[in-house]
Amino acid sequence: MSTIKDVADRANVSIATVSRVLNNNRYVSPDLRERVQQAIRDLKYEQNVMARNLRRNQSVTLGVIIPDATNPFFAEVTRGVEDVCFERGFIVILCNTSEDTHRAASYLSTLYQHRVAGIVLVTPGDLREELRYHIDKGDPLVLVDRPLPDVPADMVTSDNYGGGYQAIHHLVELGHRRIGLITGGHHLQTTKERYAGVQAALKAAAIPLEPGLVYEQGDYMARSGYEGLAALMQVPHPPTAVFAFNDLMALGALSYAYDHHIHIPDDLSIIGFDDIQASEFFVPALTTIAQPRYELGRIAAELLIDRILGNDHALTNERLPTYLVKRKTTAALVPVNGAHA
Ligand code: RIB
Repeated sequence: MSTIKDVADRANVSIATVSRVLNNNRYVSPDLRERVQQAIRDLKYEQNVMARNLRRNQSVTLGVIIPDATNPFFAEVTRGVEDVCFERGFIVILCNTSEDTHRAASYLSTLYQHRVAGIVLVTPGDLREELRYHIDKGDPLVLVDRPLPDVPADMVTSDNYGGGYQAIHHLVELGHRRIGLITGGHHLQTTKERYAGVQAALKAAAIPLEPGLVYEQGDYMARSGYEGLAALMQVPHPPTAVFAFNDLMALGALSYAYDHHIHIPDDLSIIGFDDIQASEFFVPALTTIAQPRYELGRIAAELLIDRILGNDHALTNERLPTYLVKRKTTAALVPVNGAHA
């Protein structure tokens, strides 16, 4: 049974390109589209396997485990997973862990006991022991968005380091040197990678990282962004710009700024991370670092179904690009009385 990896290899393109052709994505050149379609014909690649699996009494259900069902970022990743499942003849069971690793471990065990064909996991923390147990048993699994070191599973993540670097570089280019941070939980690899990108960008600009300008109690939810900006604005020399490690915390910070008559971006610049669909409709529209949310979900589902259908391909670690989306919440620093604030 040919799989998407076989099609990608035959057409000499990435899995992401095959996924875009299958999804009729318009951003595929006619030449690439024809090469992929020819490979599909040559390999008799079959997208929808529900009827075949049901005839063989094989599961057509995938588990999707996410940390926060109220965060639009995870909804957009899940939509990519679910679209692929619909195209390929699978159905989804969605589980929310509320960022709790014990709950995630429980869902992993329960879903496999109920014979799901495989699981797409955004981990809420360190589940390496539990994941190695299931992988050793041969339970199909893919990690998306949040990687874990030393786990022999396919992973699909974004370039968090590059995104953190770009966020700071953008603010430095606008003349800011007193830059505040509202980070996510440092137990998460995504936070660590963004933070490393921040440190590298500050070092490149010869800007020292001031502990008083780093709020580390952020939890990727809006309220911690509100509380984070409140804390940052209490320091003797407040920042002129703030990088929130996700859009919901940036939204919380915008709310604090509104409540306290801090004009964005004239008095303070704010940049987020994710580019959830709503961020362009925040008031003012949020400048942010975009992650390919939908693609993360699509590629994770394609890799997982590949493995479920017996294609024991080499472990894959897809890292997708992040990029700056400039909107209305960041602006050049206006010197105060001739000096930089
Ligand atoms: O918004 C939720 C955050 O946690 C995102 O930045 C995503 O990368 C997830 O890890």
